[in-house]
Amino acid sequence: MSCKKSIKLSRKQISILSKIMKMIENKEFPDNYPVFITQSSDAHIYSLRRKVIEHMGFILISKEWIKDLSQWIGKRNYLELMSGLGALSYGLRMQGVNIIATDNYSWKETTNVENSLLWNDNKMWTHVENLGALEAVKKYGRNVDIIIMSWPPYDDEIAVKVLRRMRDINPSCIMIYIGEGKGGCTANDEFFTVYQIVEDESFNEANVKFQSWPLIKDRPFLIK
Ligand SMILES: C[S@@+](CC[C@H](N)C(=O)[O-])C[C@H]1O[C@@H](n2cnc3c(N)ncnc32)[C@H](O)[C@@H]1O
Repeated sequence: MSCKKSIKLSRKQISILSKIMKMIENKEFPDNYPVFITQSSDAHIYSLRRKVIEHMGFILISKEWIKDLSQWIGKRNYLELMSGLGALSYGLRMQGVNIIATDNYSWKETTNVENSLLWNDNKMWTHVENLGALEAVKKYGRNVDIIIMSWPPYDDEIAVKVLRRMRDINPSCIMIYIGEGKGGCTANDEFFTVYQIVEDESFNEANVKFQSWPLIKDRPFLIK
């Protein structure tokens, strides 16, 4: 008979989790996340993920990743759609990136447990203009070089509609999509048949330090 062992975190590791959570509540990014956070199946990690989603958002934002990504973006103008609490835009602004953050604040009304997030205005990291994603592309799309879209809603056509609108309005604009691949829990199936990967080794290098939660296969994709 086989018995699956669950590896419990040590006290020291649990105290590291609390420190990380405190930093995030104080709107500070850790330099990076210890490997055990990205690999362990301990229940503490799942409860940390819930809290991090409530206070920062769906991706694990670290100082090291943001620094590399902002260097890759450089002086280009950048628009973030569906930016939630604005943590990613905040991090990039701190690194000097020219960025406009937008969201339609529909997260305030959602009844989905995973997305309800208990978010409130005190949890915003930076100013996020209240604007639908399609309207944001229409308003700013002509004047930006890069659009970022992180964790667009699952099984929802907004991601693919935004991509099409971006192509219509500004054919030279590229998009950083952060989420899972086809069959994952972000965007809808059509999105993955429509997008085209932009091959760019420097982009891949800029994202080497991107980290994901256990069992979550999200990553940045450069697309058009
Ligand atoms: C799953 S959350 C992701 C938030 C954030 N990008 C992150 O990675 O944590 C999806 C976000 O999309 C926003 N949203 C959903 N539909 C939208 C739309 N049509 N226009 C603008 N924002 C939208 C929600 O308000 C919510 O903040």
